[in-house]
Amino acid sequence: MQPFPLDPTGQDIHGEGARLRERGSPTLVELPGGVIAWLVSGIDQIKKLFSDPWVSKDPRQHWPAWREGRVTEDWQLHMWISPRTMFTAQGDNHRRLRSLVSKGFTPRRTESLRPAISRIADDLLDKLAAGPDVADLRTGYAYPLPIEVVCRLFGVPDDVRPGLRQSVDVLFDTTATPAEAKANEHRMYEILNDLVAIRRREPGDDLTSDLIAARAEDNDRLTESELVGTLLLFVAAGHETTVNLLDHAIAALLAHPDQLARVRSGEFRWRDVTEETLRWQAPVTNVPLRYAVDDIELDGVVIRRGDAILPAYAAAGRDPGLHGPTADAFDITRPDKTHIAFGYGVHYCLGAPLAHLQAEIALPALFDRFPDLALAVPPGELRPVRSFISNGHQALPARLRPA
Ligand code: HEM
Repeated sequence: MQPFPLDPTGQDIHGEGARLRERGSPTLVELPGGVIAWLVSGIDQIKKLFSDPWVSKDPRQHWPAWREGRVTEDWQLHMWISPRTMFTAQGDNHRRLRSLVSKGFTPRRTESLRPAISRIADDLLDKLAAGPDVADLRTGYAYPLPIEVVCRLFGVPDDVRPGLRQSVDVLFDTTATPAEAKANEHRMYEILNDLVAIRRREPGDDLTSDLIAARAEDNDRLTESELVGTLLLFVAAGHETTVNLLDHAIAALLAHPDQLARVRSGEFRWRDVTEETLRWQAPVTNVPLRYAVDDIELDGVVIRRGDAILPAYAAAGRDPGLHGPTADAFDITRPDKTHIAFGYGVHYCLGAPLAHLQAEIALPALFDRFPDLALAVPPGELRPVRSFISNGHQALPARLRPA
């Protein structure tokens, strides 16, 4: 069967997910630049595969196309594969890189951020309340809240933030040309190297300064490129993913006022909203890439050693094998909201408790402040971002007060 070319514009990710599912899972897909990978969209298949030590995220060891130079620096998704971080590491290297920051993301440490996150949400709501009746809630709320949180955690100065945000946007834009992606890569590393230089000169109570201190103590614990790569990983993960969760949760509730009423009355919890949103609209559609360390048989298909693998987290949340014929419907009352939006196995999202906390604070705060909130356009007119990796809207126009 011919590989299915993934739409780089990501204009209909769920329609595409359904078409891919019909071909069977795993199935071959073509990424921009002609790179071929096995897309896996069954939740149980992903769990089985990622429990298997024969799947790796390290291209340097386990992706022959990378090692042998068939996929080059000019590939537009190079930034997803090349940085040396826990995201692209395996085994001992992965444990070493993850353990350097994991203390900062335990449920207890995360909970201690609650008052600061509430203040950030309140400030943003004050700004919205002082503005026009119709506002873009992605730009005015869903975006700045997680960015402020991650930038404070990592000691990113205010004047560095706009450049970072622009670079992260291009990183997730899968329509970027190889030249655009390369220029963005240079810009991104310039900004991150500057950030490291600033925090080296003026250390603070933040995770960038902690990483710099860990490296100063022992160079072997963290190389300079791993330090910069780790910052890139957190800035990217902190910018786009929680933004999409808030964006989709707000849009879904406004499109389903009956369900919003049942949450506001206390019949259902905000946690039901976030879990159902993560299932229905996984904020990260597909995550590049993994590699088969050996031949793997998965439901009658053999993935050959060295083949690339792409987990389809958004399609997996709508797996009809698990969620039945209503898998495509947003329904906070469904008893089983199983999803895989934070990944699975050793690379399970380190920021999951932080993402949940932000949503648990930001959503009720918004709906309490603006009880008459309504979408300013029909839900069908919300346009997706141009990406098969990031799943969010380009804008979320909403009416804050009754007309
Ligand atoms: C709703 C919000 C979020 C979603 C849906 C999400 C999703 C994911 C997914 C799917 C992965 C696994 C990728 C894979 O290997 O297949 C991941 C990994 C990761 N996420 Fe998140 N993420 C979110 C928020 C955050 C936040 C707020 C942070 C930190 C500020 C964060 C930090 C990380 C890190 C460091 C990893 C790499 C873990 C590893 O490779 O061991 N994420 N995330």
